[in-house]
Amino acid sequence: MPVTIVIGSQWGDEGKGKIVDLLSDQVDIVARYQGGANAGHTICWGDETFVLHLVPSGIFHEGVTCVIGNGVVLDPVAVLDEIRMIRELGYEVEGRLLISHNAHLIMPYHKRIEAAREQARDAGAIGTTGRGIGPAYVDKFARTGIRVVDLLDRDVLREKLRVAIEEKNAILRSIYGAEELDVEAIIEEYVEFDQLIDPYVTDTTEYLCHALQEGKHILAEGAQGALLDVDFGTYPFVTSSHPTAGGCCTGLGVPPTAVRRSIGIVKAYCTRVGNGPFPTELHDETGERLRRVGHEFGATTGRPRRCGWLDLVALRYTSMVNGFTDYAITKLDVLTGLDEIKVCVRYRYDGKETTRFPAEVQTLSRVEPVYESLPGWKEDITGAERVEDLPAAAQRYLQFIAGYTGVDISLVSTGPKREQTIHGAGVRIRAAV
Ligand code: GDP
Ligand code: IMO
Ligand code: MG
Repeated sequence: MPVTIVIGSQWGDEGKGKIVDLLSDQVDIVARYQGGANAGHTICWGDETFVLHLVPSGIFHEGVTCVIGNGVVLDPVAVLDEIRMIRELGYEVEGRLLISHNAHLIMPYHKRIEAAREQARDAGAIGTTGRGIGPAYVDKFARTGIRVVDLLDRDVLREKLRVAIEEKNAILRSIYGAEELDVEAIIEEYVEFDQLIDPYVTDTTEYLCHALQEGKHILAEGAQGALLDVDFGTYPFVTSSHPTAGGCCTGLGVPPTAVRRSIGIVKAYCTRVGNGPFPTELHDETGERLRRVGHEFGATTGRPRRCGWLDLVALRYTSMVNGFTDYAITKLDVLTGLDEIKVCVRYRYDGKETTRFPAEVQTLSRVEPVYESLPGWKEDITGAERVEDLPAAAQRYLQFIAGYTGVDISLVSTGPKREQTIHGAGVRIRAAV
């Protein structure tokens, strides 16, 4: 009865979509446990590229059931759009996509409040994706949220929406001086969703726990990344959920004893979208190069991603918090052609060096990275099938990551496509030799 969790080990966009799609042929169920349509998970095969925001990245594997768990904040408009897109591609969704009746809904007022709040923060803005995530989780924990199950009862929905919108309008008007929302228009739009969403809604916790009893294998797909976790990330420049391992149990209702494996997805360098500290960020030609070669533009908002060297201090910290059993290293090909590759091995702060990751933002924004320089390689690595096919410098880079963090590498991605991957018998880079 195993659960394997796939978790972004950095600030998101590590390539979770590609890896989850790839691993989906080994599992029965793929389940999202947190976040919402702020996620943008890219899957490529052949000449096609798809970006999924809410539907789990296992949907293109016919034998896999996909679950949107109770921990997700669901935008009904976005999920119905995505279902339509997947159907148009020729994939059956009904019967293969299950949505938790307990998931909370994103409403238009969440987006409106988020926009007003971000504008009011001015220079201190978080740089959110604008998908209403923060305000939706606020309502969840304030116990004023509207859940998927409420969509199925028009009378209940009408009443809850009326109360919620009147409260939000008061906030928009009096605190932010922002435009108010039309109560009746929203009610009319959302009551229509009952029949559209009904075929997908169920008690997903019961479904998942029965599946575990039957010996089925669940792949839990994290969104965002560990450094965006509301508790363990670079608060307040974080998202409002728990991408870290613990979020899997609360976001799906599966027991912690069922979790057997926690895979950290590690981009071979670092990126960040939105604001907040980023010690290894490069503001030079190398940073530009990483963005250009790695196509580092947000899959959800299209914003250019900030780029920098791999931060091993941060990675060791997220490996500790998530208990990573192994890593999937992605985008190694993007480093090809560099003369030297730097990795951050310590931080300098107040004249002292440390290997501790200070998640508190005041300190983290002042640390100076101390780098180890490793040799680069020039050979094209996208066709490599085994680790031994990689140039010695690339092997050394991987070995350095595993050695520093104490976590084995079980997969290396050398391009966006499924086949551009070294895994299975082709790879096992041991942390200790
Ligand atoms: P996610 O949010 O973690 O799923 O990652 P995104 O999809 O937002 O961003 C990852 C981007 O890198 C996507 O455009 C992927 O197609 C691409 N990608 C994934 N793995 C690799 C790789 O190994 N090499 C290259 N060059 N691109 C990759
Ligand atoms: P995937 O799953 C990268 C960032 C936003 C912002 C902060 C808060 O594709 O890796 P939010 O809209 O969540 O309130 O924004 O978090 N962020 C992401 N960055 N990848 C993501 O998802 C992200 N989801 C949110 O840019 O800095
Ligand atoms: Mg993404």
